[in-house]
Amino acid sequence: MLWTVGLCLLLGSSGMSHPLSSRGGNSGRNKLLLISFDGFRWDYDRDVDTPNLDAMARDGVKATYVTPAFLTITNPTHFTIITGRYIENHGVIHNMWFNTTTLEKKSYWQTQFVNEWWDNGSLPIWITAQRQGLKAGSLHFPGTASLYQGEKVGVGEVEPAVYDYSNETVWRGNVDKVMGSWFRDQDLDFVAMYFGEPDGAGHKFGPDSPQRKEMVKQVDRTVGYLRASAERHGIGERLNIIITADHGMSTVYRKNVNEIVLRKIPNFSFSDLAFHIVDYGPTGMLLPKEGRLDKVYNALKGAHPHLNVYKKEEMPSRLHFSKSERILPIVLWADPGYLINGYFPVQWNKGEHGFDNRGLDMKPFFRAVGPSFQKNLEVSPFETVNIYPLMCHLLGITPEPNDGQLNYTRQMLVPPTEGLIRPRIFIGLGAVGGFLILVFFVFMIHNVLKRQKTQERSETAEHEEDSTNIKQTSM
Ligand SMILES: *[C@@H]1O[C@H](CO)[C@@H](O)[C@H](O)[C@H]1NC(C)=O
Ligand SMILES: *[C@@H]1O[C@H](CO)[C@@H](O)[C@H](O)[C@H]1NC(C)=O
Ligand SMILES: *[C@@H]1O[C@H](CO)[C@@H](O)[C@H](O)[C@H]1NC(C)=O
Ligand SMILES: *[C@@H]1O[C@H](CO)[C@@H](O)[C@H](O)[C@H]1NC(C)=O
Ligand SMILES: *[C@@H]1O[C@H](CO)[C@@H](O)[C@H](O)[C@H]1NC(C)=O
Ligand SMILES: [Zn+2]
Repeated sequence: MLWTVGLCLLLGSSGMSHPLSSRGGNSGRNKLLLISFDGFRWDYDRDVDTPNLDAMARDGVKATYVTPAFLTITNPTHFTIITGRYIENHGVIHNMWFNTTTLEKKSYWQTQFVNEWWDNGSLPIWITAQRQGLKAGSLHFPGTASLYQGEKVGVGEVEPAVYDYSNETVWRGNVDKVMGSWFRDQDLDFVAMYFGEPDGAGHKFGPDSPQRKEMVKQVDRTVGYLRASAERHGIGERLNIIITADHGMSTVYRKNVNEIVLRKIPNFSFSDLAFHIVDYGPTGMLLPKEGRLDKVYNALKGAHPHLNVYKKEEMPSRLHFSKSERILPIVLWADPGYLINGYFPVQWNKGEHGFDNRGLDMKPFFRAVGPSFQKNLEVSPFETVNIYPLMCHLLGITPEPNDGQLNYTRQMLVPPTEGLIRPRIFIGLGAVGGFLILVFFVFMIHNVLKRQKTQERSETAEHEEDSTNIKQTSM
């Protein structure tokens, strides 16, 4: 009987050791904060002093870099991070919503409010978390405003149309809001958070500029501030933090020789097109008029040594940018340094992204810290589709179908046997041992008393009471 009780205790205690249950806190699972610093290229910490990012790497995990989805632009690649799907599979194929019949286009910001654009068959992790009983929030993360199958993020904030994405005071206010109000007071389990820099500085001044370096210092200060804020709000012990970005940044060659201007290409004519998106960095998409696909394609293919031209269905499969019906029949992208201009060169940015995701300049950084992560570990590069299954694992939720694998990120985690099961088995064995010792003593005392009782048959009621008490204790 005693052994059965002991066994139950042991099994009970190891049965509770679900790898996702809390460590360092008593109230349930760990929380997860996903942060994107737009356009933070993987090597931006190499030419700037970044004490807080360095400390985070020592306390946690750092990937050499990660590979974003293609097209390497903001809305599509962010949606890959929170769905685990390649862009051709989630359908958010561009920063801009567009209609090839009416020729309408909506800006990055306006597109946030077009539900049909975002809700194209894939659910962001916050919807999946909510459906499985968790509480989620999103601050400025692309996709926040949209409904998905009629559902919205529980706590969401979309930036106003006119917004300074670079104000450090505002950043700190947002950090404290997420830590204090969202995580601590409202007890959210998951929050996605977006910062619009250093993308802005990288575009305007170029990735090698002093302004970009200053902005990386600001990001670094903010990372220090947010880890301190988590401590200050008493959630540091049970908060996992993932910090990454949507794409990198590449220097645009100075306007001198050999610019790509479609109008100047022999035999190419805009009058053969029904709809086009060009003058958008190094990428373009064309919808030729009925029957003119091959004419347009033949005119462009090979017309410029730094212009890549593909029919949609012939796209290199490694780019995963083909299957969506939203992708137009001809896809263009330029080699690093070049832009795709339509009639005239009208793009003035010194830095751009949108290039092939193989190029090192397009790779974002990746950092993670918290109770579930190893310390002082650098891991090999992986694709950003794999962040989603990692996040689902950390939250203990069942993922939607996706293109990632936990396999690529599992080595970052504290092995469950080290972190949880073994200590719990020790606790279990300790409990069983203690229980058996207690039972042994009670048994011995009981026997001694019983013997005394047998010897002195005429006993007082006091002694009866004592032995009864002892028996009760041993139950
Ligand atoms: C584009 O606009 C046309 C005309 O208003 C409409 O019939 C069509 O459904 C729209 N397509 C998309 C994808 O919004
Ligand atoms: C995705 O959008 C396309 C039109 O852009 C539409 O035809 C298709 O039905 C949508 N798929 C889903 C699952 O919403
Ligand atoms: C940043 O935001 C704060 C608070 O809204 C404001 O007081 C300050 O003037 C802003 N700083 C800049 C440089 O715009
Ligand atoms: C342009 O098209 C004409 C007729 O189709 C062809 O003969 C000519 O070689 C083309 N020129 C170039 C530069 O492709
Ligand atoms: C997991 O990844 C490793 C490489 O890290 C690979 O060798 C292995 O085949 C993968 N396993 C699965 C099930 O995909
Ligand atoms: Zn971006």
